[in-house]
Amino acid sequence: MAILVTGGCGYIGSHTAAVLTEAGREVVIVDSLVNSKALVVNRIEALTGRRPAFYKADVRNEQALAEVFETHPIEGVIHFAGLKAVGESVAQPLAYYSANIEGAAALLRVMQRQGVRRLVFSSSATVYGDTDIIPYTEDLPLQPMNPYGRTKAAVEWMLTDLYHSQPGWSISILRYFNPVGAHPSGLIGEDPAGIPNNLMPYITQVAVGRRPELGVFGGDYPTPDGSCVRDYIHVMDLAEGHLAALGLIEGSHGLFVHNLGSGRGVSVLEMVKAFSEATGQAVPYSIKPRRAGDLPAYWADASKALRDMNWRTHRSLADICRDAYEFQRQNPKGYVETT
Ligand code: NAD
Ligand code: UFG
Repeated sequence: MAILVTGGCGYIGSHTAAVLTEAGREVVIVDSLVNSKALVVNRIEALTGRRPAFYKADVRNEQALAEVFETHPIEGVIHFAGLKAVGESVAQPLAYYSANIEGAAALLRVMQRQGVRRLVFSSSATVYGDTDIIPYTEDLPLQPMNPYGRTKAAVEWMLTDLYHSQPGWSISILRYFNPVGAHPSGLIGEDPAGIPNNLMPYITQVAVGRRPELGVFGGDYPTPDGSCVRDYIHVMDLAEGHLAALGLIEGSHGLFVHNLGSGRGVSVLEMVKAFSEATGQAVPYSIKPRRAGDLPAYWADASKALRDMNWRTHRSLADICRDAYEFQRQNPKGYVETT
């Protein structure tokens, strides 16, 4: 039996595909490569000694998806495929509604027809939006503040309605906090196109000399050092969370919602300091104006994941920094087609 990993060439999907393969699972990847490269499949093979099956296809292409289900004995799906840049979602909402909502609907229709009813879905802490209640618990109302977040909330509602409409579905919704770091081998990691939007890839690109300095967006937030506080989670801990979630939906029927985070808030300036200490690389930075839409501080209450599926993070901030740097050091220009 196999697990279909949509978006499996991407950042979180590739690490999850590697963890699943290491755990003895058969992995089948479907990815349109809109934000990733096919050579990631070679890297997963190099890491694990087993090559996942790979199909270049858009999840909105129901015909192509159906062929994958007819070729492999798929018993469950982890759905990563989608678009994820908040700023881009404000500029191009229709592209986000199509990729994220139509993509999920197409996948669910095919699963329904094929009789496969186990799904793990990549949601995001961004669905909580602005709230004074910190840390975030899963029972907070969803009030997303941007189109990207609204597509994630919409898919969560779609999954909830589907679950209640028909017996047999078993669904895990995972709300990730800030995924960072890389596989400790340095073979797979985060490889954003263009100028990184996110903090950690920006830091690693500064560390290898691709960019002169980090801009810290805001130094006057009501936080201990004035910079924003987030809950950073090592991508390998996150990948292991998917294995735990699969175990949960395989062991029982239900609709489960879990935060995946460390439960600890870390500021931008603390991250810069931790990175320099862990890697020995200086990260020049200057304080810039606040970035529109950023919340001052939030982190996860991750106790439900510990209770329900015995999952928690194990890796430290130093592990995160060292592993992120190792990927960037080995791949200074990201994934390059000849490697
Ligand atoms: P990513 O862009 O690296 O991976 C997404 C993958 O999906 C890419 O390989 C891309 O080519 C593929 N894809 C996109 N649209 C597709 C489509 N229509 N059909 C087939 N393939 C498609 O992103 P990631 O960071 O690995 O994120 C994975 C998932 O986790 C996304 O759903 C994202 O919204 C969610 N998430 C990410 C973060 C984060 O900070 N990275 C936080 C919370 C949630
Ligand atoms: N930051 C900088 N400089 C940079 C980049 C980021 O100071 O060059 C700061 C941001 O202002 C923020 C923090 O670093 O305070 C983290 O920013 P990221 O862009 O790395 O992450 P966000 O917390 O903004 O958002 C991330 C994902 C979203 C997801 C959200 C969920 O990018 O997709 O986490 O919590 F929805």
